[in-house]
Amino acid sequence: MKKVADKSARGRIVGRKLSMKFSTRSGDNIVLDDLDIEVRGGEFIALLGPSGCGKSTLLNLFAGILKPTGGSVSIDDKPIKGPNSDVGIVFQQHSLFPWMSVLENVAFGPKMLGRADPIGTARTFLALVGLDKFETAWPSSLSGGMQQRVGIARALATYPPVLLMDEPFGALDAQTRSIMQDELLKLWSQFNSTVVFVTHDIEEAIFLADRVIVMKTMPGGIKTEVNIELPRPRSPDVIKTDKFNFYRGQILELIREETLKVFNPSK
Ligand SMILES: Nc1ncnc2c1ncn2[C@@H]1O[C@H](COP(=O)(O)OP(=O)(O)O)[C@@H](O)[C@H]1O
Ligand SMILES: [Mg+2]
Repeated sequence: MKKVADKSARGRIVGRKLSMKFSTRSGDNIVLDDLDIEVRGGEFIALLGPSGCGKSTLLNLFAGILKPTGGSVSIDDKPIKGPNSDVGIVFQQHSLFPWMSVLENVAFGPKMLGRADPIGTARTFLALVGLDKFETAWPSSLSGGMQQRVGIARALATYPPVLLMDEPFGALDAQTRSIMQDELLKLWSQFNSTVVFVTHDIEEAIFLADRVIVMKTMPGGIKTEVNIELPRPRSPDVIKTDKFNFYRGQILELIREETLKVFNPSK
């Protein structure tokens, strides 16, 4: 495979004393409280936690889509003030422009940033995700897995130092999902962007990440983190190893505690 980017340590994310409070009709909802987080440039982290614990909120703070009500976030020491080209984002689904062809979708970011040859760049990235034959297709004619591949190509086409992914494979069947995880790791090993990957799937988090950050609920924050010391490159067979099982048991227990809290808030 052609090498499209040099390895670099760009994409260091630092969040300090982050709080996020939403004011609603039924009162204030403190979603994140006094959260500190640091992600090394080129690191792959997974944010794991039960539904509603604030994973998407934290990702949106990194993306500059939301502004924290307290604290600050920076990427490579630049404070995040709003949506910016340092981050590429992949959501669970429906993130492609339905009125644009696959090629136009991928070329859109580089074009908006005034980069040279957006179409050529888009072709390079579509080839990387194995979809060069589909450049004239409409997104709606593609399978869910193919649409997510286009989404990843689109997010990477601006060469962002940080790639933010919010349950990107959550709507895919198990088999497609496993293939996409494998492909994502191969892409990441070429780009070495920082990846922040949100999921509520424990195995997905362990398979992909250097570090799994387990979040807590009410209010959301970091419960603990687990360094995943599985060798890379990782093959899908790694999930059969004792070490993988050890991490799975450890993290399952941590998540279970948090999930029970949602059902029994007084405990
Ligand atoms: N714009 C908003 N206004 C009010 N509450 C919100 C808003 N966005 C998220 N929330 C609340 O914040 C909490 C965390 O949401 P979210 O970050 O989407 O969780 P997760 O991604 O972990 O499932 C939820 O209780 C949700 O209802
Ligand atoms: Mg979410």
